[in-house]
Amino acid sequence: MNHRTRILALAALLALAASCGQPQKPSTVGTTPEVERRVEQLLSQMTLAEKVGQMNQVSAGGPVSNYADALRAGQIGSILNEVDPGRINEYQRICVEESRLGIPLLVGRDVIHGFHTVFPIPLGLAATFDPALVEEGARVASVEATAQGIRWTFSPMLDIARDPRWGRIAEGSGEDTWLDARMGEAMVRGYQGAQWDATSMAACVKHFVGYGAAEGGRDYNSTFLTERQLRNVYLPPFEAAVRAGAMTLMTSFNDNDGVPSTGNRFVVKDVLRGEWGFDGLVVTDWDSMGEMIAHGFGADRKEVARQAIDAGVDMDMMTYGYISHLEELVRSGAVKQSAIDDAVRNILRVKIMLGLFENPYVDVEAAAPLQYAPAHLEAARRTAEESAVLLKNDGVLPLSADKVRTILVTGPMADAPHDQLGTWAFDGQKEHTVTPLQALRERFPGRVVYVPGLKYTREHKDRFDEVVAVARRADVVLAFLGEEAILSGEAHSLADLNLMGSQSELLAALRSAGKPVVATVMAGRPLTIERDLPNCGALLYAFHPGTMGGPALVNLIFGDATPSGKTPVTFLRTVGQVPLYYNHNMTGRPYNGETLLADIEPEAGQTSLGNTSYYLDYGAYPLFPFGYGLSYTSFAYSGIALDKGEYPVDGTVKVSFTLSNTGSRDGTEVAQLYVRDLVGSVTRPVRELKGFRRISLRAGESRTVEMELPVAELAFWGLDGVKKVEPGEFQLWVAGDSASGEPVSFIVR
Ligand code: NOJ
Repeated sequence: MNHRTRILALAALLALAASCGQPQKPSTVGTTPEVERRVEQLLSQMTLAEKVGQMNQVSAGGPVSNYADALRAGQIGSILNEVDPGRINEYQRICVEESRLGIPLLVGRDVIHGFHTVFPIPLGLAATFDPALVEEGARVASVEATAQGIRWTFSPMLDIARDPRWGRIAEGSGEDTWLDARMGEAMVRGYQGAQWDATSMAACVKHFVGYGAAEGGRDYNSTFLTERQLRNVYLPPFEAAVRAGAMTLMTSFNDNDGVPSTGNRFVVKDVLRGEWGFDGLVVTDWDSMGEMIAHGFGADRKEVARQAIDAGVDMDMMTYGYISHLEELVRSGAVKQSAIDDAVRNILRVKIMLGLFENPYVDVEAAAPLQYAPAHLEAARRTAEESAVLLKNDGVLPLSADKVRTILVTGPMADAPHDQLGTWAFDGQKEHTVTPLQALRERFPGRVVYVPGLKYTREHKDRFDEVVAVARRADVVLAFLGEEAILSGEAHSLADLNLMGSQSELLAALRSAGKPVVATVMAGRPLTIERDLPNCGALLYAFHPGTMGGPALVNLIFGDATPSGKTPVTFLRTVGQVPLYYNHNMTGRPYNGETLLADIEPEAGQTSLGNTSYYLDYGAYPLFPFGYGLSYTSFAYSGIALDKGEYPVDGTVKVSFTLSNTGSRDGTEVAQLYVRDLVGSVTRPVRELKGFRRISLRAGESRTVEMELPVAELAFWGLDGVKKVEPGEFQLWVAGDSASGEPVSFIVR
């Protein structure tokens, strides 16, 4: 729905509410009076059993006939994990033609970073700092998936992740609230489309909430987030996605401060429904209702079903708790009929708005040519180019194609078509994936020598004689390292974040050959690569780049594209620094560069080491800060000025600065705007991202750039439990990363 249609719908809804004499909250999903009329009309015809059936989601598997009776009886409202368009049509046919009320199914799938055409993992998408491109990618995913009958994706994942041990850091936008929110909005817009049509796929924002803060980075672990942290850090991306019109939301597995999300009235009913007015569908995570028994939060399925409906959860994914117990809970009076009706309204609304009643079927023949369409592959390649972050370059890159006759390609990720797709790429096929090796061979026939060195990233080896011998003969060494897809994602947490197996030794051996070494890391998380940096002349961090990773990386390495990605998460020197993120609160003892252990005489005895917040062995700083990334050119910021010195709380700060491309190549910089609230009713982050802009400049070009910061963006949830801007002094930076730049000050009155 575009902006205009949304406003008209809202006006119509408010008019309807006024005519009924009831105050009504504006719809977040953009429903219309006509949709609501249809919802009520259907609801009025439904039996309790049919209503509860709509609230039941099951996973497909085996022949369609396995589900036929339940579908006919109206006992299933949604299925997930069926992708075959013919079978999806058959499921729909049974529902539409053979069930009493003909209510179509909502078919869901984890389309996380592309359907067949796989884009970079979401962490890589965030590294683009390019919401428009991310939106385009989500649109591509929708076009491909909806053509096969999938009208609901369990994406975007908006969990803030500040612990790279957590395998699911791959699936989100990293550590920053503001960046996460922009990425979430972009994906919602991309999936759902500018207007509702057959290519609209309902987005599902997940996991609500706090899941990324799992203690120790162990997946599914408990979280202990205070309400203030939730409101200032973890909830805003969800609110932004809801405001962008997200149709659905998923509750998370974790318990926060003892309360599992699927039974958490406070977050679902009070905040999501009450404060934000969300009128979309809330689904559990896979059996997260049943897991409340394992949590020890409820004794049995009946009890957890009651807890979930009480919390405001509409649909049960795979616990069978609702279908088994809700009818009896309603009959006994333990659950109100109105709670069931509300849940069913939320489900039917989505089905009606998606147009499923009018168009339940897909054209199977038409679906195939859309998959991997050239324009989709092209979008995936551009995105992979923008998502790679250049972390080191001592002048090796870009390579000049005519100067390197013999190219040694090595490393376990050079030709790993499945693994470069990353986690949650169920539908991307390795036959369609272009690896760096393939792309290089195609571009430089006869000039590529491939010696993998290691077959898997986990392989241990003592000697690398063969590959080193080839390196000596080659003009350049391209080493593709990292971690396979299986090493990140759900339930794939790690305690050690160094390159696995003998990859670091391989890199060191390659360096000994004396030829330029370019390392490319493909991984689902920011690995601790400090020890590897001295062993390469350049290092590109590509995350898992997807279907078109090979051509994208070759374009970057040979200068047909210039890196512009920035780290969406802090890169640590060692895993012991976890958690270390740029926007931490100001301590009473900020680090000021004091003595490290290495500088102290062993005999020094008891001494004061500065008594500030840092590690004796690793200091206080990361390897690379949030927002960091090099280009093949260089950029300089100058003349940063604000339009005023003081602003009212409803004002807008206008920042202007000159950005200069001071190098000899064209390039794109991500200018980042950070603020710090110097004194608050509670301690505030040392810096917070509040804006960014991608700016392309020709070699030698300078441009004056303006950015705006609405003062309202400075609001936070302070001591009095109210979100507001607290007047006072602020600092503002515009810089190329979160650790650079000089601040300018302003006052909010
Ligand atoms: C469990 C995961 O946590 C969730 O993200 C996913 O969408 C569901 N399974 C469905 O596959």
